[in-house]
Formats: sequence, C-alpha cells, structure tokens
Amino acid sequence: MKKIAIYPGSFDPPTNGHLDLIERGLKLFDKVIIAIMCNPSKTKSGLFSVEERIEMLNEIFAGQKNIEVDTHHGLLVDYAVEKNAKAILRGLRAVSDFEYEFQMALMNRRLKRQIQTVFLMAGFKWIFTSSSIVREVASFGGDVESMVPPIVNRKLREKYGTT
Ligand code: PNS
Repeated sequence: MKKIAIYPGSFDPPTNGHLDLIERGLKLFDKVIIAIMCNPSKTKSGLFSVEERIEMLNEIFAGQKNIEVDTHHGLLVDYAVEKNAKAILRGLRAVSDFEYEFQMALMNRRLKRQIQTVFLMAGFKWIFTSSSIVREVASFGGDVESMVPPIVNRKLREKYGTT
C-alpha cells in the first residue's frame, strides 16, 4: 500500500523552502499531496487566489506522478482521512515555529489519532525564507529570485507591476 502524506499550507506563494521540504518528504513517503488549505488566522484573502497558487504548483511539479496538488475547505484531518493519508507533513525552521506547530499537531492528533504529524527540518539555506517575507520584499521591488521558483518570481513581478 502506498504511503501518502499531506503537505498542507497557505502557499501564498510557494517558496524554495516548500520545494525543499517536499523533496525531503518524498524520501519517506511514496506520494505527497500538497493541499492548499484555509488558515483562518490569516484574515485577508491573500496575494494570490487559490486558483493561481494551484496553477503555479502544477507548473512547478509538472510530470511528477508522486506529487498531487489540491485544495480543501475544512478540517485538515478529515481531508487526510479522505485521501487515505497516514501523515501530515510540516516543516520546522526556527524555534519560533515550534509553539504554533506543536499546538496544531496536538489538536490534529486529538481529532484523529490515526493521523501522525511528521516534522522535517527545512534545509539550512531556507531557514529564513517564508512566504510573508517574500511577499513583502517583492512588493517593494526587491529581488527574491533566489528564494522562489522561476514561475513564482514571474508572477510576483506581474502582481506588483515590477516586470
Ligand atoms: O502555511 P500555513 O498558513 O502555516 O498553514 C496552516 C494550515 C493551513 C495548515 C492550518 O491553518 C490548517 O490546517 N488549516 C485547515 C483547517 C484546520 O484543520 N484547522 C485546525 C488545525 S489544528
């Protein structure tokens, strides 16, 4: 039976840190499902629409059969069960990530005991990369080329009119 992991997040936009984590996840799982989920603590609708995020991720992972891109409105653990996944994959960068991630993992375990949360360390190169910092720098015309896949860099420039 295939070992499936869900890699949930906002992905607004996807960064090289996300790509690094997916690559690491595929060393442990047969398939990784990238799930664009709603994070209710992020009140604004985001920079990119969910459709745009799906389009970017599909282009980045085109032809990779062990990666699926999807979206879900609702509880992450319900989605994991629906997809027959055994694990939720999350990345840890700095200690500052830990409290929030710990809380989410424990709540998810309380909701569905059969789903495990697996934390992987982000590559050292990407420790300081986050979607929010990428958005902020790009919005002021700063160079984020080394932090995001080429399609994301292109879309950010289009969004902010800095092409
Ligand atoms: O990339 P993010 O914004 O840190 O990801 C957070 C996300 C989307 C994984 C989290 O908000 C989530 O799981 N949302 C789905 C709704 C849900 O199940 N919430 C309970 C989590 S304990």
